[in-house]
Amino acid sequence: MLLPLMAVLIASAWPAAASTTTAAAQPAAACQRRCGDVDIPYPFGIGRGCYLYTGEGDVTFGLTCNRTADGSYRPFCWEYEVLDVSLRRGQARVRNDINRWCYNATTRSMDAESTWWWDVSDSWFHVSDEGNRLVVVGCNSLAYVTSVNETEYMTGCMATCPSVGRLENGSCSGMGCCEAAIPRGINSYVVGFEEKFNTTSGAVGRCSYAVVVEAASFEFRTTYVTTGDFVESTGGKVPLVLDWVVGKKTCREARRNATGYMCVSRDSECVDSRNGPGYLCNCSAGFEGNPYLLDGCQDINECEDSRFKYPCSVPGTCINTPGGFRCSCPDKTTGNAYFGTCEAKKSQLGVHIAIGVSIGIALLVIIMSSAYMIQQKRRLATVKRRYFNQHGALSENRLEGILDSQIQSEQSIELIEQMADLAKQCLDMSSEKRPSMRQVAEELDRLRKLAEHPWGRHESEELEKLLVRGSPSTFSEIELSNGYVSLTDSAYLGIQSPR
Ligand SMILES: *[C@@H]1O[C@H](CO)[C@@H](O)[C@H](O)[C@H]1NC(C)=O
Ligand SMILES: *[C@@H]1O[C@H](CO)[C@@H](O)[C@H](O)[C@H]1NC(C)=O
Ligand SMILES: *[C@@H]1O[C@H](CO)[C@@H](O)[C@H](O)[C@H]1NC(C)=O
Ligand SMILES: *[C@@H]1O[C@H](CO)[C@@H](O)[C@H](O)[C@H]1NC(C)=O
Ligand SMILES: *[C@@H]1O[C@H](CO)[C@@H](O)[C@H](O)[C@H]1NC(C)=O
Ligand SMILES: *[C@@H]1O[C@H](CO)[C@@H](O)[C@H](O)[C@H]1NC(C)=O
Ligand SMILES: *[C@@H]1O[C@H](CO)[C@@H](O)[C@H](O)[C@H]1NC(C)=O
Repeated sequence: MLLPLMAVLIASAWPAAASTTTAAAQPAAACQRRCGDVDIPYPFGIGRGCYLYTGEGDVTFGLTCNRTADGSYRPFCWEYEVLDVSLRRGQARVRNDINRWCYNATTRSMDAESTWWWDVSDSWFHVSDEGNRLVVVGCNSLAYVTSVNETEYMTGCMATCPSVGRLENGSCSGMGCCEAAIPRGINSYVVGFEEKFNTTSGAVGRCSYAVVVEAASFEFRTTYVTTGDFVESTGGKVPLVLDWVVGKKTCREARRNATGYMCVSRDSECVDSRNGPGYLCNCSAGFEGNPYLLDGCQDINECEDSRFKYPCSVPGTCINTPGGFRCSCPDKTTGNAYFGTCEAKKSQLGVHIAIGVSIGIALLVIIMSSAYMIQQKRRLATVKRRYFNQHGALSENRLEGILDSQIQSEQSIELIEQMADLAKQCLDMSSEKRPSMRQVAEELDRLRKLAEHPWGRHESEELEKLLVRGSPSTFSEIELSNGYVSLTDSAYLGIQSPR
């Protein structure tokens, strides 16, 4: 009894135990999750045990929260200030340096440095090719982005100023500003200026600028060319979008080894990074939250979430479901609550009447036939009762009166009385009291023996006849006729009218 119970307990405890031991390590609950105005969700974190440790290098998810010159706290990833982290997109925005190459009026030459390295190849970041552009600002400026050893890729563009009057705010299409897409899957690059195109003439601007920048956050202004406004207005840094992964394997490979598999939340899914090798996790459609935490993904209440427009076309019909919602027309109405309207159901009176009438007729038939049967039964009972009232003399002790004097003899009257008693029992209306055929047979046998007894031999021929006829085969008709007494029964008649 105890053993199976324990087996059940162990079996039910096992999956839970297994899932907690194989899940990727979870961060401590007490971790700092905000620095200044920036939320820092796991796998990012501040301090050991609060972020996803990536092994050697380990420059991806471990942040510091440092006080900056203006007195506010800002998170940093290594030397880059982190602007924000998006779990949904698997991206982080950091501040990236604007590279500038300027004419020095004092030395009457261009700055010595015209190339800069940018390298996060130790990390699990890649430069987002979709989110970023190479932007070059200047007049007579050609800049490029290349791989560190210049053998893998090179891309760039040239900005010219044929006439300063033709520069336009917001237009980065070659005049004073140009932009180029960057290749996918890079985590290091070199930005360089082609020295043949320089600002030594000093005709318009002193400097050329080149930077890999978040496309959405960059808007060209004519003053970037004519003055030093680009650096002054931005503090020399502009946003750069980085894609990150939580493992270097593909989802297929990562799922195979539950240890270290990062997509631990229910209702989460694994997504292969489209930018470089590795995978990320995402809450399933209709859920939101942190897929890297146990139970991190929570259902979105589409019906009540103010971020969404009410999802149903009919007000008050939205029902939230795990991962979705339903638009369900209210009771007694029908229609399409998603895109249409709900209208009162058409009256189905005709159908209802037809159903009602059919049921009524059926009921009537049943009631009438039942009543008829009950009446029939009662009539039968009355007939029987009357019959036995008329012929019920058997029950009185007037046997002597009805019997022929021939039959009556001192020795046999007792025998006849017993016979009469047996017959009475056999005619009993309720089948429980009625003796079974076997009992009747036994009783008859006993009586026959009694009759053969020396002092019982004086009985008349008629009694002998009666006993012989009262064999089980004769009585069977009484027994089998199920309460209906056969008036043709010879044994019965033998007693009833012995004349
Ligand atoms: C942040 O502060 C720590 C400790 O004060 C310091 O070691 C680190 O260099 C700082 N990082 C940045 C990016 O300022
Ligand atoms: C120009 O070059 C000189 C000598 O290298 C340097 O001291 C000075 O700061 C430079 N001027 C600018 C504006 O960079
Ligand atoms: C340059 O890139 C190629 C191709 O990725 C690589 O095999 C080579 O080692 C790299 N050279 C240097 C110096 O980084
Ligand atoms: C562009 O905008 C700046 C202000 O941001 C303004 O000073 C400048 O005159 C504008 N340039 C043109 C060509 O409209
Ligand atoms: C600037 O460009 C001119 C020609 O456009 C070239 O002769 C000169 O060497 C360049 N200066 C530098 C510093 O590269
Ligand atoms: C599974 O992943 C863990 C942690 O990443 C690692 O230590 C272990 O060797 C891996 N096991 C296999 C079979 O690859
Ligand atoms: C995660 O899912 C949302 C929609 O559910 C989608 O917009 C987003 O691109 C997904 N993120 C990744 C990294 O695939």
